[in-house]
Amino acid sequence: MSYRLLRPLLFRLPAETAHHVGSALLAGALGTAAARAAARRAMAIQHPALRCERWGIQFPNPVGLAAGFDKAGTHLNALGALGFGFVEIGTVTAFAQPGNARPRMFRLPADQALLNRMGFNKPGAEAVARRLAQSQLEPILGINLGKSKATPLADADDDYLRSMERLQEFAAYLVVNVSSPNTPGLRQLQDAEPLRQLLRALFSKATRPLLLKIAPDLTDDQVDQATDIAADEGVSGIVATNTTTVRHGLRTPVKRLEAFGAGGISGAPVHRRALEIVARVHRRTQGALPIVGVGGIFDADQAWSFIRAGASLVQIWTGFVYGGPLTPRRINQGLVEHLERGGFRRLDEAVGSGL
Ligand SMILES: Cc1cc2nc3c(=O)[nH]c(=O)nc-3n(C[C@H](O)[C@H](O)[C@H](O)COP(=O)(O)O)c2cc1C
Repeated sequence: MSYRLLRPLLFRLPAETAHHVGSALLAGALGTAAARAAARRAMAIQHPALRCERWGIQFPNPVGLAAGFDKAGTHLNALGALGFGFVEIGTVTAFAQPGNARPRMFRLPADQALLNRMGFNKPGAEAVARRLAQSQLEPILGINLGKSKATPLADADDDYLRSMERLQEFAAYLVVNVSSPNTPGLRQLQDAEPLRQLLRALFSKATRPLLLKIAPDLTDDQVDQATDIAADEGVSGIVATNTTTVRHGLRTPVKRLEAFGAGGISGAPVHRRALEIVARVHRRTQGALPIVGVGGIFDADQAWSFIRAGASLVQIWTGFVYGGPLTPRRINQGLVEHLERGGFRRLDEAVGSGL
């Protein structure tokens, strides 16, 4: 069944239920290595211009699945078979936690957006590590790390460290998430001193490239500060951005938004700010720090804007929910056209070329 027909059915279900049903359908359809190989042949765009190397890792294409879609790494092989260049799982925390009470995820179709306050619901690092150890990992895997809700902010470093030490052997790269709005106090770890301290603690034990994921709600000065600290401390890249808590300018009626309650908004409303931040970080670091651009990417033109603004890789989440399983293929196909039209032989030549 095509996603055009399936989507109206999924969208009749509560958003989180639809997410589980969609993931289960995908996992069912792509449950065997043979089915996944066939899917990859059909979905992946193989084009030399799309290949890129970051941190010594060879990415087949720059379009990844963003963190939070597969929090525990349950469906990562099936997701990878859809033609994503890489899959980021997590956020994983040291301890298992149930997340916030349901409902905690909502669609805002008028805004091409989602609102969520999941609160890092998932098994802890140990259970995720055990699952990963039993799997043959097919896609390039990023693991996104966060702080357990029960751990006081003052002990955050140990909490991240614990997850990192347990999980890093499975990851091609790691992301330090200090930007989710749904764990009380987490975003304070973006402040100068705690950020420096956290990065230093992690670097003392990291064996994988370590990226920093920042919020779209930072001011320009805060973005500059976080970028400078990241560069000083030897971070391998910046993931920009997470969801936003800003709510003005939305089409969804205020009453409806209020009824949904707190949470981070993703999709089209984050797009402009995420793009600005990508451009800002690229300029500030003169392209020295690879950037993963994420926020409201639904199509190839938007992915291309991120690349031209300085993103070396991009990720999607909300655009995947609205666009369905062919989205990574469509975006990659469109990127090839952009590259050819612009006379770029390789993606790297296009990174930051729009500034
Ligand atoms: C339901 C939901 C859950 C998410 N969970 C996480 C998470 O656990 N960790 C994280 O770093 N980002 C999480 N995100 C943020 C996405 O990874 C991404 O940064 C953000 O949604 C912007 O991209 P998009 O507009 O393509 O959705 C989540 C997003 C959504 C919609």
